[in-house]
Amino acid sequence: MTDDPDRDLVKLSDLSPEGIREILQRSIQMRTSKPAITTRSDHVGLLFSEPSTRTSLSFLAASQRLGVHPLELRAEASSLSKGESLLDTAITLEALGANAIVVRDGDEQTAATLARHCRAGVINAGGGTRAHPSQGLLDALTLLDEFGDLQGKTIGIVGDILHSRVARSDIVAFRALGARVILVAPGELHDQELEGVGVELSDDLDSTLPQLDAIQMLRIQHERIESGLRMDRELYVERYRLDEARLDTAKETLIVMHPGPINREVEITSVVADGQRSRIRQQVSNGVPVRMALLERALRRSGG
Ligand code: CP
Repeated sequence: MTDDPDRDLVKLSDLSPEGIREILQRSIQMRTSKPAITTRSDHVGLLFSEPSTRTSLSFLAASQRLGVHPLELRAEASSLSKGESLLDTAITLEALGANAIVVRDGDEQTAATLARHCRAGVINAGGGTRAHPSQGLLDALTLLDEFGDLQGKTIGIVGDILHSRVARSDIVAFRALGARVILVAPGELHDQELEGVGVELSDDLDSTLPQLDAIQMLRIQHERIESGLRMDRELYVERYRLDEARLDTAKETLIVMHPGPINREVEITSVVADGQRSRIRQQVSNGVPVRMALLERALRRSGG
């Protein structure tokens, strides 16, 4: 078995900018048009070994709107807890009829391994700290909804860049659409390797904010920081939290994004997260048409 780059989606950098644009265009169509799937015999395996609310539920909603049958695995109640591997679990889902598999796992290699070994189209729903391609696409769609075009726009991504698969996928998606991207974090939460992918790095939110057209706030992923954050929480909040006072220094047209889950009052205040400039709910809503487009793509040569 081999992976199929026309059906699988392991990371956004496997797609060309044109490929990213095509999926976004199809996502926009999915809001209003009838999906191209002609048979309703397709099954989608939803294999989440890490917690998820938005991604898992929107893949479920997308499956239902496409008329395909979800096979949902509850990891804690499955034979994963007896030591069965994710690959054997995916092969079991295939044997039960899944011709697309959506996988989230803490190991960044898992989606690629499944894509190599499974006949089903494989979609990475978040792998380790490296890739969350459907999030990158829905964030890009949210920006396109706002601006129409990202040429000439500057997007800031702020927070725990080091551990963020969202940041890595956003960078690829936003740059594919022509945006300038500035990553803002304290030194210990930056990944210097990202300097090589055409983005700018800053540790100063206050001087960066006035340049931005959109800002994506990230939570600190304490569950992935082995020895704890060196910067104390009060100092982090003082320098990096998006609150009303900071927002007053931004362009009047700035929009605020967050992929969720939010740690309210840490990286963003509730007033800002729930305020007029916030597009956080729209990001969640956009997950459904994006994931419909990805499922259609994953299923399209599967005999379904
Ligand atoms: N943004 C995101 O991936 O959220 P969940 O972890 O709730 O799926």
